[in-house]
Order: sequence, then C-alpha cells, then structure tokens
Amino acid sequence: MSGKNKRFTVTAALPYANGPIHIGHLAGVYIPADIFSRYQRLINNDVAFICGSDEHGVAISLQARKESITPKELIDRYDKLIRDSFEKFGISFDNYSRTSREIHHKNSIELFNELNEKDLFSSKTTKQYYDTEAEQFLADRYIIGTCPICDAENAYGDQCENCGSTLSTDELKNPKSTISNSKPILKDTKHWYINLNEFEDFIKDWITKEHKDDWKPNVTGQVKSWLDNGLKSRAVTRDLDWGIPINVEGEEGKVLYVWFEAPIGYISSTKEWAEKNKKDWSKYWKDENTKLVHFIGKDNIVFHCIIFPIILKMLGDYILPFNVPANEFLNLEGRKISTSRNWAVWLHEYLEDFPNMQDVLRYVLTVNAPETKDNDFTWKEFQMRNNSELVAIYGNFVNRVLTLIIKYYNGIVPNPDSLDNSNKKIIEQAKGFPKSIGKSLDEFKFREAIKSLVNLARIGNKYLADSEPWKLQKSNPEKVKEILYVGYIIICYLTILSEPFLPNTAKKLKSQLNLEEIKNWNDLDSLNTKIDFSSNIESKEVLFRKIEDDEIIRQIEKLKKMSNQ
Ligand code: MF3
Ligand code: ZN
Repeated sequence: MSGKNKRFTVTAALPYANGPIHIGHLAGVYIPADIFSRYQRLINNDVAFICGSDEHGVAISLQARKESITPKELIDRYDKLIRDSFEKFGISFDNYSRTSREIHHKNSIELFNELNEKDLFSSKTTKQYYDTEAEQFLADRYIIGTCPICDAENAYGDQCENCGSTLSTDELKNPKSTISNSKPILKDTKHWYINLNEFEDFIKDWITKEHKDDWKPNVTGQVKSWLDNGLKSRAVTRDLDWGIPINVEGEEGKVLYVWFEAPIGYISSTKEWAEKNKKDWSKYWKDENTKLVHFIGKDNIVFHCIIFPIILKMLGDYILPFNVPANEFLNLEGRKISTSRNWAVWLHEYLEDFPNMQDVLRYVLTVNAPETKDNDFTWKEFQMRNNSELVAIYGNFVNRVLTLIIKYYNGIVPNPDSLDNSNKKIIEQAKGFPKSIGKSLDEFKFREAIKSLVNLARIGNKYLADSEPWKLQKSNPEKVKEILYVGYIIICYLTILSEPFLPNTAKKLKSQLNLEEIKNWNDLDSLNTKIDFSSNIESKEVLFRKIEDDEIIRQIEKLKKMSNQ
C-alpha cells in the first residue's frame, strides 16, 4: 500500500436514459463499482471511474414515442434524473458523460472508420423486415413476434424477455411491426458486420483458460455457453433515424448499432475527463499496466466479455478487461423488478420517504448483493438489517463509547500511558481489518467485505460489554482510560474503513472526531499521531435511526398500489 502504484479504469454500465434508476441497478452495478473505486483511491491507487448515459438505440425511440416527446427531450429528462440520483447516493464517478455528446459521436465514428478502412468488417446486403406503412426498416425492438427458442409471444427482435435468448429480427416467427402493428415485408439493405466467429479461439483462450480461476464462475460460465453455441457475425449498423450516423458515401440513413457504440462510450467519457483534467487518456486504455474493470449486470455479459473485447482486439493497441465482475439480478419482494409493471423501488422516491438515509440503502443492497445468485430485496429485511445491524451494532457501539468519553472526560480522548496485553490484542485485531477487508474487495467480494466491517463494530460492542468501564470509574480510573482509548481506536478504524461503503456516515464521523487528517488507509498505521488528544469531541449526531413497522407497511402498500397487484 504505497505510492500510486496501480492504475485502474473502472467502468459502470452506461444506463439507458429512458427511465429512472431503481435499486436493482444500484445493487448490481453502481454500488459495487463505487465501493471498488473508492477503495482503490483510499489505498493510493490511480482510478478513473467512468460512466455516462446511454442515449441511442430503439429502446430510447420507443419510450419517446410512448411519452409523445422527441428522443432528445426524453434523454435530457432522464439524464438529469439519473445524474441526480447518482449524486445523491454518492456514486463517485470521475466522469459521467452522455453518448449524445459530440465527443462521443466523433470518437465512435473514428473507431468505426478505422476498422472499416482496415477492412476488418464484412459488409453485406441482406433482406430485412420493413414496415411499408411507417416506411422504415424494423430493427431490434421495432419488431415483435414468437420466440424461436421458447415459443413465447411478443419476443423482441433483439431479445426474448421470457427465456432471455438474444435474437436477431429474422429469427422471429410471425413478425409484427411495433410501430403500425402491420406485417412487415422483406427488403434489401446493406450493413457492416463483425465476424465474431473468427475470434472464437481468442475468446476461448483468453477467458476459459487465462481467466478460469480469477473471474466469477457465473461470468465464465455464460461465456462458455455462448462459445458452445458458436459465435455468429453481428451487424454493427442499423437503418434507424436515431443514433450516430455513419458517414459512408451513398449510405444515408444508417447509424451505428447502439451496442457497438455504447461501450466505446467508456472511452469517449475517459477522453472527456482527460481533457478537463489535463490527463493522458490513452494511459487508461492502452497501457498494459492499467487494470480495466467493467461493472455490469448479467444481461450485459456477452457485450463486455465477448463483443467489446473483440472490438478492442481488432483496434489492436487497447487493453482487455482485467475483470468483469458481473452480478446476477435483484428481485423485489419475490418478483422480478419490472419497469413496465412498475414493480420497483425508484431511487428518487426512496429519498422522499427516507431522506438522508442513502447509507442505509447502500448497506442493505451490499450486504445482500446478488453476487453469485439472484437475490431478493424485501422491505422487512431492509428494516431488520437497519435496526439490528446499523442501529443496534454499529450505531450503538459508536454511541456508547463517545457518550462515555464525553461524560468522563468532557469529550477529550484519553491517552493512557500503557495498555495491558488484552487491550493490545484488541488493537492488533483492529489493525488486521484494512488488510482483510481489502482482500475481499480485491476479490470483488463485497458482501464479505461489508460483513467484516460490521464485525469490527461487533467486536467493539462485545469488548465494551465485557470490560464494563462504567463499573470501574471509581476503583480503577486508569483502566477506564485504557478501555475508552481502545474503544476510540476501534471507532477510528470503523470510520475510515466505512468510507467506501457508507460515505455519508464516514464523513459525519470524520468531522465529528477531527479525523480529517486521515486521507487514506495507510494513515491508519500512524493513527496515534493523527488523533487529536486536545480538543473536545462534539456531542454526537445520531448516525442511524430505528425504522418503525408502519414505515415498512406503507412501502409495501405503495408498491402494490402502484403496480396494481
Ligand atoms: N444501457 C445498457 C443497459 O442498461 C448498458 C450499456 S453498457 C455499455 O443494459 F457498455 F454499452 F455502455
Ligand atoms: Zn424465448
């Protein structure tokens, strides 16, 4: 843990700017990415934490049509809402861009042209579905039909939501236009393709050999099953009027496929950040010592573990992802979160009902994150974890120690001359936490890491209960000093180690305890020289409050009412 030894480019999936952010997004992608980035900064590594709004694609056009506004109005509205939610929840992006910005249009077209000029795409003319009433080709979600895999009706042209299969429009049975409901005809059109099949061996060696042990099995497993089914060529252009126009002569009306340009958005966003901060963007994408980490949900695995790496490989001088710690899905009260059925907890609404309680949600979503399997969020568990972990363990421990320091010493932290062996042991135990929490985080085990954090508070609570300083105030005042000093040291560790997980709580505690001097986890080694033994600890602000039954009942009722269940 010394010097800025490692460089990380951390990306979080660009959210579609066609709706607000819900707890599933937060738990699956943005909280782990934020914890990881904050942690790397706190151990002195160099981090570019990159994101932005994903603003093209048919999903955007369809939503705009539904809301009777233009795509531009739609993306402006949701980009603002999403940005605001991220900011309020303390997601510490170094840059949050938008794929509709000039810099991204320019960058993605440049990369497309580069690959095109090197003749790495194949272009071909095929027959595609065309809506004669709407006079347009029906790409992706503009077309629905029966799923060729599971026979579900209303599968989209690009994906069946019933069985999760990725589809192409020509595979659908009984295709129907979602614009006019009419039956489409087939019409010739030219598109550019990546021949993914040519890269099968490359992906196989890279992921199923090189990364068979250090990547999550749910990720390598999904990649394997894609490989088993064989990779097919994929078009990187579309006939659409909303997107990034390719400027190839004689090919008007064609745009880049959103899944081609959106991941390139990570690079564009890095360039934007580098320009603003006078940095060299290429270090974050082309230096082989940089570790590129993509945080995504499981529905994005193929794009981040197969297609985008192939694009990076085709470009030649880019690094490949170091890890893609994709999460599974978070359900809500036993059912799949669904935007269209309004079965979700929206961040902006949560904050209306639980103002200033961002850290509580961050905590619950981390401790119960869908890391290795789908998980369920329930309001009962939310309440239980808040009341019996944050309030009864973390908050209670901090509160008891600080109350006694204020009561016995007017808020001045005692500095005992020596410590007995059992006290030394407790301090040694606390000193082991940065390393063990760090190890969990290095391995992308966020649940394990946050459970350790609470264990530290649990150790403190037990220590206090066992040593009973309140009984010794008369008979052994020196011992009381020792105990409260040790208690205070544990609080310092708890505070500093909480920063990646519970940034608001850590901030409050740091300012209350005059710990602002401590900038990173290395400083914990010389903690004693950073403690202020002269000024008084101010009387304390409550860190966590109890959540009552009626608050939870109200949330469950609201959910049912909004979704008409
Ligand atoms: N918008 C996509 C989704 O929400 C994610 C895009 S990630 C990127 O599923 F790599 F394409 F940027
Ligand atoms: Zn299906």
